[in-house]
Amino acid sequence: MTVPTYKNNIDQFVIDLSHWYKTAGQNNYDEVVTISDHMLQAASIAYDEGLSNSNILSCLFHDIGHMIIDDEDDPSELIGNIYHETIAASFLSKIFINEVVEPVKNHVKAKRWLCTSDQRYYEQLSPASKQSFEEQGSYMSDEEMKDFMSSDHFHISIKVREIDDRAKIKNKETYPISFYKDQIKECLKH
Ligand SMILES: [Fe+2]
Repeated sequence: MTVPTYKNNIDQFVIDLSHWYKTAGQNNYDEVVTISDHMLQAASIAYDEGLSNSNILSCLFHDIGHMIIDDEDDPSELIGNIYHETIAASFLSKIFINEVVEPVKNHVKAKRWLCTSDQRYYEQLSPASKQSFEEQGSYMSDEEMKDFMSSDHFHISIKVREIDDRAKIKNKETYPISFYKDQIKECLKH
């Protein structure tokens, strides 16, 4: 199905998102979970750990760039130099406040920062994730590290990444998209 758009009707938007996650989101994220389960798990962890509404939504939507790319007839037009987190951020920024968008936009930066600051983090990545790390720019320079650390959304971007890494559990119970209707409503751009 096509990527849902928000047209001033929150109920319809939640229905469309749920449907999208149940269809386009069924591709495997890794060997264990689908992309949809992975994002729903991330949101559940964020909710259960008492993160803010916008942080919960960042977790809920953090990998939708992959689903948007899957939805394209000709994904080659989108891939090229544009990364999945940029595609996700561009979609989300039309609908949600910046606090939702920034940690998603920083998704790959956070991985590069974690790999650069802790070799053990790099070592535990899957072979596929190590491969994408190379394609995503590999280790950060000192300047890139400093810039990222002084940016407004640094801490929450790292937190979302850590939750992302934990959200890969087979058959874990999660809340459905409709559970987050209030958070979605609260974080809409006005
Ligand atoms: Fe993820």
